[in-house]
Amino acid sequence: MRYEMIETRTEGPDSRQVGIVTLNRPKQLNALNDQLMDELGHALQAFEADDSVGCIILTGSEKAFAAGADISAMAKFDFADVYKNDFITRNWEQIRSIRKPVIAAVSGFALGGGCELAMMCDFIIAADNAKFGQPEIKIGIIPGAGGTQRLPRAVGKAKAMDMALTGRMMDAVEAERAGLVSRVVPLAQLMDETLGAALTICSFGEPSVMAAKEAVNRAFESGLSDGVMFERRLFHSLFATQDQKEGMDAFLNKRKAAFTNR
Ligand code: CAA
Repeated sequence: MRYEMIETRTEGPDSRQVGIVTLNRPKQLNALNDQLMDELGHALQAFEADDSVGCIILTGSEKAFAAGADISAMAKFDFADVYKNDFITRNWEQIRSIRKPVIAAVSGFALGGGCELAMMCDFIIAADNAKFGQPEIKIGIIPGAGGTQRLPRAVGKAKAMDMALTGRMMDAVEAERAGLVSRVVPLAQLMDETLGAALTICSFGEPSVMAAKEAVNRAFESGLSDGVMFERRLFHSLFATQDQKEGMDAFLNKRKAAFTNR
């Protein structure tokens, strides 16, 4: 597939690379339309299928990660259009099926669907100029890509209600304080910092990386007892891997582990 609205590249050593997807619709501040979301889904699936890729970064431009769903496209839709075509569900949620870690590197605006897309990633590293918000209320709608569900899970009800009802933006410092982002770094260091985190993840055994992601995600889908039991079983199953033997032996013998992802 030839991409027109995103760019892809890989970084890192040949065996364990980081796949990077850059949203690239600068004139529209990376507003998310159908074509862009189709391309993004395709690129994510391609990195998922590539054994040399261990982690994925999703990023935008300095000015905008993404300013939301494309309002000029949505303005023409009526109920029958969005309901029959299952707008959002059809091509926005592919990111949820990716089993490799996906890190959002956010600078500039992450608004509406842009904030929701960042929240679909496994964690967010923000530049100090990042601004998050769910301003859909200002254009007569509400968040439609999971914002009313993921934002309260990330920042709690009070801030989520404040954001969804007033449409105000949250800066990077507030976003880190509230738990929406894991780290805030100066803009110039955003990609180095995110790549560093991604390469660290790539250096670990793939079964334990996947299991950790799956277990943390389960926390959002289940009660505590079920979630802990799910974690316990995944934990037990990792004792069947060569990487567990290698990791523990390397620690005890004070050497670097050579994981084989088996
Ligand atoms: N859709 C389509 N075009 C958009 C856009 C969007 N979400 N956001 C920005 N653009 C376009 C603008 O129309 C403008 O285009 P022109 O140059 O052709 O006029 C261009 O990008 C630059 O934008 P601005 O001139 O507005 O730039 P600014 O720096 O003055 O303001 C901004 C930046 C605060 C992000 C402002 O553009 C803005 O408020 N954008 C809309 C944000 C928004 O409401 N997002 C939610 C969308 S709804 C949604 O996402 C639903 C969902 O949950 C899935």
